[in-house]
Amino acid sequence: MPVRFEVTDRWWPTMGTRALDLAEKGVQLSSGEKAEAERERQSRERRLASPPFVRRDQIKLEKSSHRGVYIGDIVSPDIGLATHMLSAEIQHIPPGVHTECHRHGERLVHVMTGTGYSMIDGVRYDWEPGDSIHIKTGVWHQHFNTGSEPANFFVSSAARLLEQMVAYPLVYKGDNFSDVSDDFQPEHPFGLGPQEIVPVDPNEKWNSSVHMNRKERVDALEKRSRESRTMIKWNQAKIERSQHKGDFKVALIEPVLGFDTRLVTLSIHQMPPASYTETHKHEEAVVWIRTGRGYSIIEGERYDWQAGDCMHIQPGVWHQHFNTDPERVSQHLAIMPTPLLEQVASFVGLEVVEEDEPESIPENYTPKLPWEYDYSVPWPKKP
Ligand SMILES: [Fe+2]
Ligand SMILES: [Fe+2]
Repeated sequence: MPVRFEVTDRWWPTMGTRALDLAEKGVQLSSGEKAEAERERQSRERRLASPPFVRRDQIKLEKSSHRGVYIGDIVSPDIGLATHMLSAEIQHIPPGVHTECHRHGERLVHVMTGTGYSMIDGVRYDWEPGDSIHIKTGVWHQHFNTGSEPANFFVSSAARLLEQMVAYPLVYKGDNFSDVSDDFQPEHPFGLGPQEIVPVDPNEKWNSSVHMNRKERVDALEKRSRESRTMIKWNQAKIERSQHKGDFKVALIEPVLGFDTRLVTLSIHQMPPASYTETHKHEEAVVWIRTGRGYSIIEGERYDWQAGDCMHIQPGVWHQHFNTDPERVSQHLAIMPTPLLEQVASFVGLEVVEEDEPESIPENYTPKLPWEYDYSVPWPKKP
């Protein structure tokens, strides 16, 4: 379960925001914390300089290195957006054209126009407008536009984050290493004396329980992914009231519907005619206008929108949406990094208990680093 917390003046969402806040208050900081505060100051400048709004006429379809696909970047650094985790683009496949078979990280695909099918992990999924497809991590897939109309997909992901993580897999070059004789006796790190070294895998001398267990866990995750849902058809989508007071929600690619999304989710927010939401803030989000017209107030600025425009909501930025059409609903596709935050980043910052006064350090205290003490254990130490 994600950590739940209330916002207090002793809570900072990241260590950087804390360092900058304390620096501004004149609190003594370590040189590392000072550098952190400076980095946060610069990144705050970048966030403020980043346009929170992409007009649809800024989205251009271009021939891309992906054969068969024209790409129209929406939430992308090449139009000056300081994105953190999320990306969004239009992928356009001309009539009768199909893509290469390929694979990559998690992508959420929403079919806007066109008809055809995708081969995903050997299974055929026929699609038409309103359908949504979860391309799972590392799964081979290929899209075929079999209709007479161009296919336009709205494709979103946390590709930016994955690149920053540089999740480079372990690869061996295949050259030599110094194998150790079987009667070598390694030292117990804490002096427990001679230890019996039993291979964890009888067929593989160089392996560890950590690695074997990791493989088992990865296999279990892959199994869970394979058994999860890949597609939701337009007529399977359900509309309900949402946690945003006054609007309605249509879950598309969400765990509640059986999708094993690891990074991002996709849903539609629907605002009734002539209505508006409460002002709120949250993690980074991409809000793409599917239908309707209205405006949003983002950090005090007004941005008028129509179908095809996109909002890139920065983490922690106040915003409020208004549907100005007196007769028609507006519909927004929303991309949120919710599964990712639930699993790994529900509490990245720091909060302190105000009343908790630590013991004060004596004036004449001189700190020492660990290697100034003898912490190595004489070997063999008796248990
Ligand atoms: Fe793909
Ligand atoms: Fe929002």
